[in-house]
Amino acid sequence: MKLLEKLTMCISPSGRESAITDIIREEILDVCDEIFTDTLGNLICHRKGSGKKLMLAAHMDEIGFMVNYIDENGFIRFSPIGGILKYNSINSTIEFTNGEKGKISYENKENPSSVGFDKMYIDIGASSKEDALKRVQIGDMATYGSNFAQTGDKIMSKALDDRAGCWALIRAMQNAKETPNDVYAVFTVQEEVGCRGAKTAAALINPDIAIAVDVSNVGDTPKSLELNLSLGKGPAIKIKDASFIIHEKVKNLLLNAAKESGIPYQIEAASFGGTDSGAIHLTGGGIPSGTVSIPTRYIHSANEVIDKNDLFNTALFIEKVIKTPV
Ligand code: CO
Ligand code: ZN
Repeated sequence: MKLLEKLTMCISPSGRESAITDIIREEILDVCDEIFTDTLGNLICHRKGSGKKLMLAAHMDEIGFMVNYIDENGFIRFSPIGGILKYNSINSTIEFTNGEKGKISYENKENPSSVGFDKMYIDIGASSKEDALKRVQIGDMATYGSNFAQTGDKIMSKALDDRAGCWALIRAMQNAKETPNDVYAVFTVQEEVGCRGAKTAAALINPDIAIAVDVSNVGDTPKSLELNLSLGKGPAIKIKDASFIIHEKVKNLLLNAAKESGIPYQIEAASFGGTDSGAIHLTGGGIPSGTVSIPTRYIHSANEVIDKNDLFNTALFIEKVIKTPV
């Protein structure tokens, strides 16, 4: 799990993906016929093939925090980058892209369960505004602090959304020696702020089919929402979320690939959430799209949890899709 640890520990929020791009490029370089970053920063790995164009997308950005204002005492007011949950972020430690560390707290006269971001602040241990400005600037970004851990088959870390998807896509590209398809593995930027990178990458590549690899919520914890997914039962074929409905052609392709491969899989139909497929399928004249999900607990918290077996099976499943004529 060394590569996954390296990927998740990297501090690379939306719009600041150069650090994670460097790690992924180095890892995947050998298995691409060409590799480049496009204008917005998407890392595109092309494996040439004579068949149809298959685009696979995993987003490499993560949710984070941006410095908006520093008060006279050195406390920092911030805004969220992407879907930070207020109650999750209180008391979390964070790390800036320049390595500085901080902790999130709130104005103690407020009720912590309903407090807004405007009543929260970052404490970097500064004694004054001047002292704080020696370490962070207005507009600097941070993410949850890195905290990778393994317990049994489970892995806990920040940013498994979607570095787990990046891991699966990297391993699938490395292990798929042959492919009948013209494959583009895309590590997208800015998914967490509205699937921005996926949109421009899809326009550039104009694939025949696109499949996003991302994480999805499970319903296997005490009194959780009634969701069909559980940890450890395999990757999920996502039929729907709030951003897209799987194209019938892609649904059949994924179901057949899953059945042929014998890899355990689950079916997901969600009423909320969104992935890169939401942006990709509406690009140009429309692109048949689907999403494969890694079941994940506590998404968008500082400690997301996945099962190792789901991670390995997702990589195997994506490898199978790469080898299947689309
Ligand atoms: Co996310
Ligand atoms: Zn995601």
